[in-house]
Amino acid sequence: MSIILGIESSCDETAAAVVKDGQLLSSVISSQADIHAKYGGVMPEVASRLHVENIGVVLKETMEKAGLGYEMLDAIAFTRGPGLIGSLHAGCEAAKALALLFHKPLIPVHHLDGHIYANEFVDSLAFPLLAIVVSGGNTELVYMEGPLSFKIIGETKDDAVGESFDKVARVLGLPYPGGLPIDQHAKNGKAIYPLPSQKAHHIPGTDSYDYDFSYSGLKTAVLNFVENQRARGEDFSLDDLCASFQKAAIDPIVERSLLAAKQYKVKQVVLAGGVSANSYLREEAKKAFEGTGIRLTIPPLWCTTDNAAMIAKVGEKLFEAGVRCGLDIDVDPNWQIEDFLRF
Ligand code: KG4
Repeated sequence: MSIILGIESSCDETAAAVVKDGQLLSSVISSQADIHAKYGGVMPEVASRLHVENIGVVLKETMEKAGLGYEMLDAIAFTRGPGLIGSLHAGCEAAKALALLFHKPLIPVHHLDGHIYANEFVDSLAFPLLAIVVSGGNTELVYMEGPLSFKIIGETKDDAVGESFDKVARVLGLPYPGGLPIDQHAKNGKAIYPLPSQKAHHIPGTDSYDYDFSYSGLKTAVLNFVENQRARGEDFSLDDLCASFQKAAIDPIVERSLLAAKQYKVKQVVLAGGVSANSYLREEAKKAFEGTGIRLTIPPLWCTTDNAAMIAKVGEKLFEAGVRCGLDIDVDPNWQIEDFLRF
């Protein structure tokens, strides 16, 4: 039984939320997306300054909506990493100030644990579990033998899948962030253009596959395709190219997830992170897991974007497990999910 305030500021959303006994009392998000869109990507310096500007108002509104005073909280949880260092600092310092002033325990939360546990707002979690973590900064298959246990069994060797959507969108003259516009164009197109696909390789002599990903080649292939068409004076369909790219980017995620889920005999698979908003991924994952006996949980769209409800949710679990940090805690922009208890 606990009341936890969560603070999230890892990228370009300033957010706070209160969770009481697993239930969300309030959640406020101030997004900077429109401002960064003008630059074609997140400007780290601008993001940190806006977090500092917005965090006070976001906290005030969150507490008012929850109908609570800070003295009623049991702990303050904040995103310690991964993310942009200046952005992370803004949330961390706000959390420290509140912990100091109101004599509350401070709890560092891993951002991706948050995305995984966001699924608990809509479904219970059954272990062992496989989390498909796909965002602008990460592409990971995370095996969870039990609660708060994370093992990466596959990850990208170069670009993250969301990053490849954003880079390809830029090549195609679509706005930032590129995931949604590509998704929308792809709905009107057909995957007719040949782009490199990455089939999972079986590891000889085992029942295992190589679950790693690579996205830099796909981005280059799209760039080369566009340049060749232009050099030849030949037109191409933007909708069809978006559909072709999306299929080449998402199919490997679905294929590897299914193979890994079977190999690791998981009971449940959850989607997590910004790219889990992708309509093709959601549909293909549903089709792939249908009839397998493995439960697939697809988060509602509000859980796919950055928010603090998920940070408060993990904060509550860590609070109950006795996890605390001191006021000398620092952020870690490259914090690994497997090291979530090392800070
Ligand atoms: O998790 P997130 O908000 O940020 C990180 O913490 O990285 O994910 C943002 C990423 C961006 O790369 C964006 O283009 C992508 O998620 N994204 C999508 C879609 N909506 C957002 N990618 C594909 N399809 C979408 N519908």
